[in-house]
Amino acid sequence: MKYLVFSDIHGNLEAFESFLKFIKRKKIDKYLFLGDIVGYGASPNETIQQLKKLKPLYAVRGNHDKAVCGEEPLEAFNPVAANAIQWTRKKILKENLKYLSKLKKGPIVVDKNITICHGAPFDEDYYIFGDFDAAEAFYYIKTPVCFFGHTHFPFVYRLKKNLIDGFLVQGKRKIIRLEKDVRYLINPGSIGQPRDRNPFLSFAIFDSKLMKINFYRIEYDIEKAKKRIMEANLPPTLAERLSLGI
Ligand SMILES: [Fe+2]
Repeated sequence: MKYLVFSDIHGNLEAFESFLKFIKRKKIDKYLFLGDIVGYGASPNETIQQLKKLKPLYAVRGNHDKAVCGEEPLEAFNPVAANAIQWTRKKILKENLKYLSKLKKGPIVVDKNITICHGAPFDEDYYIFGDFDAAEAFYYIKTPVCFFGHTHFPFVYRLKKNLIDGFLVQGKRKIIRLEKDVRYLINPGSIGQPRDRNPFLSFAIFDSKLMKINFYRIEYDIEKAKKRIMEANLPPTLAERLSLGI
């Protein structure tokens, strides 16, 4: 089975459309979305409509999705993020708000190999940054692989015989072959707002038969996404960070 795993679209239609165009050429069985369709970007309705068409097997909610639905207080966000959430609340169509409100809370056990969550398996809003957080997360996961989002960094943590290591996934394409008796905590990176100083959109394809993960970085029309943010009167830093990949 081939799973396409993607996260953190954040209302970036240009990135999401490039991703959709690219994956048309790939043979995918199921789609797994790790949360945050909206927030930051200027196209919340369009990105939700495209995601609906893709019919993910599972889609978990992100903190921005919750906040737009009023299920997360704005005080939990920095001023720029809070501004974008308020903007999104004004723009979002009723049917799309309904879709957001129906997203599932993670973690979800997808099958015998995979668990998915937005932040961490013990707390959907927690950021996994570092080995200590990863150790806590591994404690909660029963499957060999757990995919998470939220940090916007394509990252792999491994737990092998009680030892943890982790690395940032770099380069345009990367293949990771999963070993037996090793457990994995994997972030596919972000579609709409990568933060690892590489502005190209990021996602992963997991082949559960071959136990192999392919990571991809794809170009998209960043200038168009930035222009849309500026025209929407969203904070200009939200446009600028897209070119910087931060
Ligand atoms: Fe996010």
